[in-house]
Amino acid sequence: MRNSQHRFTNDGNAMPAIGFGVWQSRGDELIGAVQCALDAGYRLVDTAAIYGNESEVGSAIKTAGVCREDIFITTKLWNDRHDDVENAFNESLTKLGCDYVDLYLIHWPVSGQNLFVSAWDAMIKLRDSGRVKNIGVSNFSIEQIRRLEAETGVLPAVNQLQIHPFNQQRELVDWLRTQGIITQAWSPLGHGNQNILTHPVILKIAEQQHKTPAQIVLRWLYENQIIALPKSSTPQRIRENIDIFDFNLSTSELSAINALDRGLNVGNDPDAFR
Ligand code: A2P
Repeated sequence: MRNSQHRFTNDGNAMPAIGFGVWQSRGDELIGAVQCALDAGYRLVDTAAIYGNESEVGSAIKTAGVCREDIFITTKLWNDRHDDVENAFNESLTKLGCDYVDLYLIHWPVSGQNLFVSAWDAMIKLRDSGRVKNIGVSNFSIEQIRRLEAETGVLPAVNQLQIHPFNQQRELVDWLRTQGIITQAWSPLGHGNQNILTHPVILKIAEQQHKTPAQIVLRWLYENQIIALPKSSTPQRIRENIDIFDFNLSTSELSAINALDRGLNVGNDPDAFR
């Protein structure tokens, strides 16, 4: 199933409704995975300076036979460059081999450093220069986004968060929706946490829907208007993870997954991470 679905940002720009994550992928395996993903219909590739794989992502995209304009590329500013955004961005652009990116995110707020507002100012200038189509943040709280808006007048287009059935962050996600900010989900499958994909509730819905547990989780995110960014190096799973547009979850199935939330953080703590 081709990925023809889109979400729209608060600036009216279109963004694919599911993307391909490449955290912890490297080398030829990554190049093969990105090519497989593009072939399977993904049109959003999500990387970051800290992943150390922007060059491979760029190479894979160049040789995949899909027009640059048809691919939505996201990359992210690392924590030690909040005071050096322009140079950090140029380095990412060079590695990707592109003359623009579709979405540039502040990867973590690093609130102790207290530089994220000046970084946001620099991101706004990049967007105004046309070299970035959309700007956003990742792992930001309501208070931090309110501060960006109060001090610059510009809201992010996206807040990328760790969201999966065991970590739903409902209050934050609901608030983002009221602001027209798109939520993207990193580690949407819980970073391979098998307790999610083998949970009896997920298994039962998978059986009812004749879909895999991963497809149930990804469809649940889609129906919550969240752009999931699943990572896989396995061709069959890469294809499986985008094949979620031919079924619907019932209200009771959605509620059963909503009830699985337990605030389980499988990554870094946004308040403490530097
Ligand atoms: P692999 O790369 O070997 O396919 P997340 O995107 O939440 O961080 O999860 C990534 C992890 O989940 C990786 O370990 C990946 O393994 C695994 N994974 C990706 N897709 C699936 C799937 N459809 N079924 C089971 N595990 C998956």
